Amino acid sequence: MPRPITARIYRSTPKNLRFLAERLRAGELVGVPTETVYGLAANALDADACAKIFRAKGRPRTDPLIVHIDQVKALAETCRPNAAALKLARRFWPGPLTLVLPKTAVVPNIVSAGQPSVAVRMPSHPAFRKLLRLAGVPLAAPSANVFGYVSPTTAEHVRAGLGAKIRYILDGGAASIGLESTIVDLRDPEKPQLLRPGAITRRELERALGRRITVVRKSSAPTRVPQVAPGMLLRHYSPRTPVVLHAQLPAPSRPKEAYVFIRKPVGRPAKNVFWLDRHGNLRGAARRLFAMLRELDAADFSQLNVELARGEGLADAINDRLRRAAAR
Ligand code: TXA
Ligand code: MG
Repeated sequence: MPRPITARIYRSTPKNLRFLAERLRAGELVGVPTETVYGLAANALDADACAKIFRAKGRPRTDPLIVHIDQVKALAETCRPNAAALKLARRFWPGPLTLVLPKTAVVPNIVSAGQPSVAVRMPSHPAFRKLLRLAGVPLAAPSANVFGYVSPTTAEHVRAGLGAKIRYILDGGAASIGLESTIVDLRDPEKPQLLRPGAITRRELERALGRRITVVRKSSAPTRVPQVAPGMLLRHYSPRTPVVLHAQLPAPSRPKEAYVFIRKPVGRPAKNVFWLDRHGNLRGAARRLFAMLRELDAADFSQLNVELARGEGLADAINDRLRRAAAR
């Protein structure tokens, strides 16, 4: 029997924010809005609270969590920042950038999956920032989806996936960016590595740092093998319906299959033809991508044919998520 929905969605009123901050301090989980995707938050300094995140998501303990802070000053509490990290933090925070750095002892091992490093970011979503300030502790939060499924970009997505596992969701509207943060490994500031592409592009980061950033390729290794770069598994963000990617979409000739263009195609509309952004604007496409995959997964299509984005920067981030969605 399916478990009953226990999650309630709270608007970001001052009273609700105070209540949810108090729940977080008491060791409970709260679904939170961020500018990238919704997160599932717990007090990052409380190992038992963080263990609940792994249980609710069905996430393997080998996959570490991102710690969210509300000011650059708070960095030194959870990690040992170097000059390169401070440069990127001052330039891009608050915003969709996560830095991997050597951790301090206050961060429980469950957060970092036993590693001596921790991933930290300062989000820009105003309601989440208020909640962070009221909670008064850093918040560990992975994306608020069941492990392996498409990341949530609305409070309703969180309820649809985790509604029977959690009690509190803060509504902050649809995520304005729609893709998870860019992750840069700065443990060795001489050799920065891009672990995950996002809305802040490699070029922007290289310009700010004044040096090259290496791109780490995802592995397609099975889930429970210990990983060098955790969370880099290829299979991720996957709808149940098979996703097939195309540099150029074929004519939408099969009525049981969906065809998803980046921009609105010319020609007659059809029930199985979709687009991510009317004008092909990649910011719009990124914002819409995960909601579109969820909607089409819930519809009755036998296959989702999706057009790859062209170009680099945000196109790399969109195509990274599409490749993961298509990985079997
Ligand atoms: O935009 C985002 O980053 C969102 C929102 C909620 O902030 N969070 C998010 O978390 O995407 P999640 O759990 O889906 O991704 C966390 C990933 C891990 O899978 C891993 O790739 C990387 O962050 N990560 C975390 N800690 C790490 C560490 N110590 N070393 C290397 N990578 C780490
Ligand atoms: Mg995730």
